Amino acid sequence: MRNLPLVAFLMVAAIQIGICSEDGHYSQKEPSRDGTGKVYMGREISQVVSQHAIGWLERRDREGEEKPSLVIDQLEVEKDDVLADIGAGSGYFSFLLAPLVPGGKVVAVDIQQEMLDFIESKKKLKKVSNIETHLGTIEDTRLPADTVDLAIMVDAYHEFSHPREMLSSIVEGLKPGGRVVFLEYRGEDPSVPIKPLHKMTVKQVRAEAEAVGLEFIEVRDFLPIQHFILFRKPTTTKQ
Ligand SMILES: C[S@@+](CC[C@H](N)C(=O)[O-])C[C@H]1O[C@@H](n2cnc3c(N)ncnc32)[C@H](O)[C@@H]1O
Repeated sequence: MRNLPLVAFLMVAAIQIGICSEDGHYSQKEPSRDGTGKVYMGREISQVVSQHAIGWLERRDREGEEKPSLVIDQLEVEKDDVLADIGAGSGYFSFLLAPLVPGGKVVAVDIQQEMLDFIESKKKLKKVSNIETHLGTIEDTRLPADTVDLAIMVDAYHEFSHPREMLSSIVEGLKPGGRVVFLEYRGEDPSVPIKPLHKMTVKQVRAEAEAVGLEFIEVRDFLPIQHFILFRKPTTTKQ
């Protein structure tokens, strides 16, 4: 190809001025408030909520505001299932999930060791033995392949800095037929009192999940301010 040096020059220039990233899935723009400036499939990725927000994640009125107990009734899990709470934070959901799987376990995955330390102290306090804390990286859950029955991400996915790599890694960790739940504040609804980059639309979640081969099952809108969006890992891989 005669124009190869020109193409290579333009690509390097594009990367340098932030039009596209090296792997082609991401681009960069001027960060908006609470944003990273990194764009994936038209969506700006939000900043990560730090361990200083543990008090907010554990707030007393969370049940009243978000009705997390209703989510538990919708999960349809078996007593010996392995559940993965990805982006577990302080473990608010991990502790709601643990009683569902007395013969199985909840793997609480996060990239902040301080979050996992908080979960460990809460486990001791509450005498809970079936939650396992697990340190992932920004692009890899580091879960063993084909081991998870259900992965859930609560108010977390929109802040993953490498959403495509994270979803691929989640798919790898799921058993064939295993399910993924996205719980995200409703991006279509301006009355949901959450900063825009911390919300997601169903259309956006579907596009990003289907891009890594997850099969859409359904949206269940029974929560006051969040979507419950369900997907499945195919039982057979497409050739
Ligand atoms: C807003 S908090 C939500 C915590 C929890 N799910 C809840 O609802 O209480 C999001 C969490 O995702 C974590 N996180 C961000 N990127 C991650 C990644 N690539 N893998 C795992 N966790 C991640 C952050 O460290 C943070 O603890």
